Amino acid sequence: MQAASATVKRFGVLPRLFPGRRQFAATASQCEPTDPPQSPPPSARLSMKMSGWQLHNYGGIEELQLSDKLKLPQIRSSDECLVRVRTTAVNPIDLAMLGGYGSTLLNQFRCQANDDIEFPLTLGREFCGELVQKGMGVRHEQLQLGTRVWGVVPIPNSNGAHAEYVVVPASCLAPAPKLLDDSEASSVLYAGLTAWSGMYITGGLGGPCGATTSAGGGANKRVLVLGGSGSVGSLAIQMLKSQGAQVLATCSENAVEMVRQLGADCVVDYTKPDAMEQLCTYAPYDIVLDCAGQGGQAAADSQYDFRQYITFSSPLLANIDKKGLCLGALQNVSDLVQTNVKTATQRGGVVKWGYFYPAAHGIEFLSGLVERGKLIPQIDSTFDFKDMPKAFERLKCGHMRGKIVVKLQSE
Ligand SMILES: NC(=O)c1ccc[n+]([C@@H]2O[C@H](COP(=O)([O-])OP(=O)(O)OC[C@H]3O[C@@H](n4cnc5c(N)ncnc54)[C@H](OP(=O)(O)O)[C@@H]3O)[C@@H](O)[C@H]2O)c1
Repeated sequence: MQAASATVKRFGVLPRLFPGRRQFAATASQCEPTDPPQSPPPSARLSMKMSGWQLHNYGGIEELQLSDKLKLPQIRSSDECLVRVRTTAVNPIDLAMLGGYGSTLLNQFRCQANDDIEFPLTLGREFCGELVQKGMGVRHEQLQLGTRVWGVVPIPNSNGAHAEYVVVPASCLAPAPKLLDDSEASSVLYAGLTAWSGMYITGGLGGPCGATTSAGGGANKRVLVLGGSGSVGSLAIQMLKSQGAQVLATCSENAVEMVRQLGADCVVDYTKPDAMEQLCTYAPYDIVLDCAGQGGQAAADSQYDFRQYITFSSPLLANIDKKGLCLGALQNVSDLVQTNVKTATQRGGVVKWGYFYPAAHGIEFLSGLVERGKLIPQIDSTFDFKDMPKAFERLKCGHMRGKIVVKLQSE
């Protein structure tokens, strides 16, 4: 992989990089004319070309193609930032999108954003890197050029983080916590914001403040986390414990000790039906958080009662892929109603669909937990950038114990 050449320029470099482009981007000195930047601008001149992994067709892992001649993604609106990626991660959504999952709906968003060509597509939803360029409207004083940042890429973006550079809205970025190295910092936000949005936006765990601020909440609530050893589940447990919730979790036998160490009050091996019956003892749960791919249909068949069952495995995108936008949307309403009628009758609670949501206050909440030592990332394995397909193979094998990280630059 070609690193950008290392020419140090303190001010005024960036506007010259893209002659003829609309000037949404600026150096820190242009954004804040009276104040000098608080951190040095990026230490390297940007190359016009970059390396990245692209798909030109949906399919298997063999569709991932590495090129070192890609155009750098460009800042198109004043609230966006360009980041040089140091580390990124591979998530189940990347493998699913490689196979075409969600393409019907996501292409509608891409067309609205003027990216009306479906391919090429670069996957990768999270990263740690260096802020190298920012739009004129990015005035957050913590986001100075040169800042080490962590961030996420909104799902509809066709230029993801499996490349040397990525452009995202400033609200999807924050300074990376100092306690984390680059690998750790690229392994938290996608799964963490999924868990956060499931619990606080969909589940209303912290009341209105929990959903609209970084306040968190959930003290004394009882939550069952299905799939406590996975990326989303392991972060959900730590988030809940930091807020004083009572947490029960399921995982397979070889992960029981790890899940206990994350703080779960009771850990049950999901492969043992007798052990699973123990979960009835603690019911009803305020929330059951399905981080194990069980889906809403499984809620009614569970042995325990709950008030809310929040699953991250909804059929929403798959229904639209299968039936198109209108019929798929109707199918979604029908699925949700049918599941809820059954669940309300059998278990006395509601089923909701939870999603990753890139909220700035969710990132703030997660940053706060890391800084207070309440959230420790779990890394399953690390790969070099040139070995991206091997990282996907690892994901495909399943049974990870934490995240799969891919390094673009040595730390
Ligand atoms: N809707 C969204 O926006 C969104 C965002 C992120 C993730 N997700 C979905 O959320 C789920 C979790 O994601 P992830 O990244 O955390 O995946 P992951 O790292 O693969 O974790 C899944 C975990 O579930 C466990 N598991 C499998 N079957 C189980 C069962 N029957 N009972 C209890 N645990 C079980 C696995 O444990 P073993 O290895 O021991 O089997 C694994 O630890 C995935 O289905 C993913 O697609 C959705």
